[in-house]
Parts: sequence; C-alpha cells; structure tokens
Amino acid sequence: MSVLITNIGELVTNQPERDAGPDPGGPGAFAAMAGAALVIDEGRVAWTGPASRAPAADEMADADGRAVLPGFVDSHAHLVFAGERGAEFAARMAGQPYRAGGIRTTVAATRNASDDQLRANLRRLAAEMLAQGITTFECKSGYGLTVPDEARSVSIAAEFTPEVTYLGAHVVPPEFDGNPGGYVDLVCGEMLDACAPHAQWVDVFCEQGAFGRDEAAAVLAAGQAAGLRPRVHANQLTAGPGVQLAVQVGAASADHCSNLAGADVEALAGSDTVATLLPGVEFSTRHPYPDGRGLLDAGATVALATDCNPGSCFSSSMPLCIALAVREMHLTTREAVWAATAGGARALRRSDVGHLGTGARADLVMIDGPSHAYLAYRPGVPLIAAVWRAGKRVA
Ligand code: NIG
Ligand code: FE
Repeated sequence: MSVLITNIGELVTNQPERDAGPDPGGPGAFAAMAGAALVIDEGRVAWTGPASRAPAADEMADADGRAVLPGFVDSHAHLVFAGERGAEFAARMAGQPYRAGGIRTTVAATRNASDDQLRANLRRLAAEMLAQGITTFECKSGYGLTVPDEARSVSIAAEFTPEVTYLGAHVVPPEFDGNPGGYVDLVCGEMLDACAPHAQWVDVFCEQGAFGRDEAAAVLAAGQAAGLRPRVHANQLTAGPGVQLAVQVGAASADHCSNLAGADVEALAGSDTVATLLPGVEFSTRHPYPDGRGLLDAGATVALATDCNPGSCFSSSMPLCIALAVREMHLTTREAVWAATAGGARALRRSDVGHLGTGARADLVMIDGPSHAYLAYRPGVPLIAAVWRAGKRVA
C-alpha cells in the first residue's frame, strides 16, 4: 500500500543534492524543497519531488501547505526509572545548584519498583515522545546500579527501542561509598556481562562526583571488549576530561559539552565524535548554555537531544530543544532542525533515519506551519499535526 503526501509547503529532506532552497547545502547540511510531495511505500520513502510531478499512489494525504520533516532522532534519554524529583527542581529554581548526587534519589525509587511499574513508565514516556515527533530514541540504564537492577533496566529498554545504552557507571551507589574502585570493577565485570546482551552502547558519566578519567576509560574499554560502542556524558558540570576521552576512544558522541575548553572544541571538530547538546538541561538546571555556534563554526558535527530524565531535565520535547538551541546557542533554525534529525542519527551511527532521501525509513513529522522555522518561531505551541513511523501513521 503506497501513500502520496502532496501539497507540502516545505519538505525537509536533509539531502543536499536535492536542495532547492537559497542556501547552498553541503554534506551533512539541512536541505528542503518547497511545493513538494512524497511517496511512502513498504515503510520507506519511495519518491520525493515537486508536487506537480508526483506519481500516483494507493492513498493520498493533503498537507495543505504544511511543512513535513524527518522524524526527530533523540540520541540521549534516560527513561527507565521510577519516582519523580519535582521538589528538587523547585529547590533548584529557588537557588540550589544541580548535583550529580540527586541521581541516588531516583536509584532508590527504581530499585523499589516492579518490572511492570518501570515498563509502564517507559511506555508512557515513549508514547509522549512519539506524539511529539520523536520516531527514534536512545534509552539508557543507570538508575539500578546493582547487577539485577541494571540487567532488568536494559532488558526493559530493549522492549521499546533498538538503541539501548548500558550506563552502570552513572554514579557510585551508596553501598560502595568509600570503595569506588570496587564499583568500577563490578560495572566492568559481572554487571557488564549481565547487560551487554541487551545493549548496543556503553556510556559513563565522566564528572566530578561521578567517575574520573581513568575510571571512565576502564568502563568504556570493558564495554568495547564486550562488543558495545562508546558514548560519553562529558563536560556537563565542569570542564573535565570527558570530551578528550570520548574523542580518544572514538565515541559516537560526547554529550552535554556544557563546559568546553578551546582544545575540546578543536578535538571535537577534528573527529567523528558528535557533540550532542542538551539545551533542556541548561534550561532545567539554570546552567549557562554552551556555545553551539562556536562548535559549528569550528567544524564539529552537532546533535540535539532531550536527555529526558527525572533529574536534570524532565522534558521529552524536541521542539523545546530546537527553540532553545536557536535562541540560546545561536544555531540557525536550519542547523537546529538538522541537529535534531540528521545530527541525532549521526550520533547513533544510523543512516536509515534523520533524512527523507529515497530508501530512508518513512519517519515523518508534519507541523502546523509552512516551514521548519515555526518550531522555534512558535515556542511552546503544540505544532505536531501528524507523525508517521516506518510509513504508518502513529499520531
Ligand atoms: O544526563 N548527568 C548525568 N545524568 C543525567 C542526569 C540524571 C539525574 O539527575 O537523574 C543527565 O543530566
Ligand atoms: Fe544524560
């Protein structure tokens, strides 16, 4: 069954060779066409081009001048948890700083929850994401921090997404106070063995109050030896060694990048490691925003992700991230939309999503507005009019 979506005001393809817009595209650049149509067949994009030349299809949908974009690719989220930390957020807004130690509050609640409670919470958040246009998401463990609690976290995550990340090295849990080395051994040993079969990625929170450079390097090396690919929580609260480590180990992504030295920007720009910016975290922790403009101008590849989690940012809204990246990090609207789609796909090393070239998975977002710019131009307004995933209308 093929579907023709016609009368599209702006079709964002992220396929530079098809760029009909005024700005020249390059590899990895935003690209769009006006007055377009798109055909979905067998769950894939079968054709894109001018609406006047669209081929026939079994079914037709009229976009009525609205913009259509690739589904958002959220490359960083922590969705396996129980409980909430609204009071911690309120205290922060009243002047308390954000601290890595808050993670332990969620660890306690998560350990006390049943599998079904964790599953139901994740199902609700995944549905919330989909309704807002996120058609691919990554999901981390990291609120269990025992062998069985991490193992069930990655296994429950794998029920909802193929992009599962083992984050046993989120913080040192209380039972290992005074013995962080013992916890790193567990993360690199028995816990990894239990989690690796359910995960694709290994991550570590490289930060003061979490894991130092050598500990983080050990966790990533063990994960890689077990067949997992590395990504890193880097330079979130301090200008530490996380970004350099991420680049050294060839991580797919260095996430947060909220405190960067010039050498960190250079290292990212000279590497394949994507700089994943999480502006919802700066918003929700009142941390200064990183210089996204500077990263792009230096030549780094930038992704935007929600980091949806109960502590540092309890938002699953990619449009919010786009609006903040434009307003606060000085990305253009085109760069921000690219970062939330193709950039996220790069950060997950995926070539089938994040763009609408022929053959791509037919993951589409239609917005109530004639251009992608509306995502930042109309902040806070529910603009997602329709969502398709793998060619099926899901919202
Ligand atoms: O990405 N930085 C570490 N982990 C999460 C926060 C987790 C929490 O506060 O519960 C983050 O910001
Ligand atoms: Fe995170």
